[in-house]
Amino acid sequence: MSATELRPGEPILHVENLHVTYQGRSRKTKPVLAVDGVSFDVHPGEVLALVGESGCGKTSIARAVMRLLEPSAGKIVLNGTDITRLGHRALRPIRAGIQMVFQDPYESLDPRQTVFDLVAEPLSIHRRLRERGERRAAVLRALERAGLHPAEEIARRYPHHLSGGQRQRVAIAAAMVLEPSLIVADEPVSMLDVSLRAGILRLMLDLREQRDLAYLFITHDLSLAWVVADRIAVVYLGRIVEIGPPAEVIGSPKHPYTKALVSVIPVPEAGAAAEQIVLVGETPSARAIPAGCRFHPRCWKYEELGRPDVCRTRDPSLAGDIHDAACHFLLDQDGAVAATAVPTTPQGDPA
Ligand SMILES: Nc1ncnc2c1ncn2[C@@H]1O[C@H](COP(=O)(O)OP(=O)(O)O)[C@@H](O)[C@H]1O
Ligand code: SF4
Ligand SMILES: [Mg+2]
Repeated sequence: MSATELRPGEPILHVENLHVTYQGRSRKTKPVLAVDGVSFDVHPGEVLALVGESGCGKTSIARAVMRLLEPSAGKIVLNGTDITRLGHRALRPIRAGIQMVFQDPYESLDPRQTVFDLVAEPLSIHRRLRERGERRAAVLRALERAGLHPAEEIARRYPHHLSGGQRQRVAIAAAMVLEPSLIVADEPVSMLDVSLRAGILRLMLDLREQRDLAYLFITHDLSLAWVVADRIAVVYLGRIVEIGPPAEVIGSPKHPYTKALVSVIPVPEAGAAAEQIVLVGETPSARAIPAGCRFHPRCWKYEELGRPDVCRTRDPSLAGDIHDAACHFLLDQDGAVAATAVPTTPQGDPA
């Protein structure tokens, strides 16, 4: 099914209360709550960036959305079909509409296959264009579109003949050959030389313009998200803590975690941050998520407010309209508390 068959306003991808749990090796090891209740939509032609530190659950979200791993709870609706529990046979035709580009172009391409075979493989899996001439034309076209010239010659090569940037272009060609409506890109430029990054990003954004493609774009780099995304979702310890348009999330963060991230990145358009906010301590383990607000052990606002009980006792949910954040004390532009989502009593109970 293509995006055009969606009802007006219906997202290409709808993710609801997604959970991903990794069981420990033995019964004594606690499970890892890598994704702990994540919800978001991606609309046709939209770029949604998931941003967060290493280990916050970005790759687990991507792999669950692709059904490369089984979510422990939640719902994934792709192009109007609930795929959460679909068997592999029923999943296959729907999966053709969503493709993935991985972080490491050295690992993600099978070294024994030629570029031609790598790009043709999705066509074989999905039994498309079985006539040889048609298939060949589609592969060469995909390589051309991915900026790999001359396509005929590149098609004969093996991955070890290619640079990192060329490999990532091959991966993008392979992702595009089925004409998907959504690409899940997991840190697609973070393993590339800085000099090659802009070219790959430009290619991805051009393809989006030409084909009304949507992206779930995963990155640990907030300034990169600012450049590519229509909306940014900030992830902390398996949860989205803030989501909205870049101008809002970066220009006027509501969550103390986002505020701290923004304060240390050079984003001129966001206005110079008054001062850098250095977060104390390490991100806690996803095996032992703090009670109440999971950010409280590192939250500068919590300290500033005199450690209110509510932060330790109540888990804040996302609140807002087009710009949402999960904090009991949402910030305004100056970092002051703008709104109290839950009126608090000294015991931390809702008043
Ligand atoms: N296969 C796995 N087994 C156990 N724990 C895992 C596995 N993969 C990831 N994790 C853990 O899940 C959490 C989220 O990891 P991941 O989704 O890779 O985050 P990110 O992509 O944001 O770096 C981390 O605590 C990580 O250590
Ligand atoms: S709820 Fe409290 S601890 Fe959590 S981010 Fe807001 S102020 Fe900080
Ligand atoms: Mg990752």
